[in-house]
Amino acid sequence: MSHDSVMDTLEAIRTRRTVGKSTGDVPRETIAELIEAATWAPNHKLTQPWKFTVVAGAARERLGEVWAREAVADVDPAKRDAIFEGEAKKPLRSPALIIVSVRTDANPVTAEEDLTATAAAVQNILLAAHAKGLSAAWKTGKIVSSAAVKRFLGLDLSDRIIAVVYLGAIAKEEPMARGRKVATTIKWLDEAVLTV
Ligand SMILES: Cc1cc2nc3c(=O)[nH]c(=O)nc-3n(C[C@H](O)[C@H](O)[C@H](O)COP(=O)(O)O)c2cc1C
Repeated sequence: MSHDSVMDTLEAIRTRRTVGKSTGDVPRETIAELIEAATWAPNHKLTQPWKFTVVAGAARERLGEVWAREAVADVDPAKRDAIFEGEAKKPLRSPALIIVSVRTDANPVTAEEDLTATAAAVQNILLAAHAKGLSAAWKTGKIVSSAAVKRFLGLDLSDRIIAVVYLGAIAKEEPMARGRKVATTIKWLDEAVLTV
């Protein structure tokens, strides 16, 4: 591996930004490539606990309906139509969605490790998308715990959806770069003798 490619990785990490609305065609092969990149995430005991469900084209409309129906179940009937319409449109914010889920292992330690490994897999998707010039956003919200949505996607109810990755070729909104804290997040323990 050359030094330059290491620099490219850091550049990708630093310049990736959430772009919540996008348009433009993302070819199936490209999506498959992003998912392949996801699967290289570190994963204790190589349990490969993740699943990637791609929702594109008209299937986004179906997903929107399924979700919106559940979202309005308990709302005031007077507000129902407006909320339904708003929720049903959400999956249309980008041409393709990669819904990343993780199965829930019976062993809680494994389940925790699988969850964190799957978060790393999501980040791989975001970085790979950015490296290829695509727009992407990691979104969650109540949709991720919807039983109707899980059924629609063919997931088990015990699976956890950890990300809805919105993906597009052309950004429809400007990404917003917000500052990060660094110094206050680091504690250096590098002395031979530590005081308590
Ligand atoms: C677990 C998780 C859930 C997120 N859910 C949402 C969401 O529902 N809606 C949204 O707009 N952004 C969501 N984000 C994106 C963050 O808001 C975003 O990463 C943050 O504002 C920093 O912006 P950046 O990604 O451009 O650096 C989520 C990110 C993570 C890691």
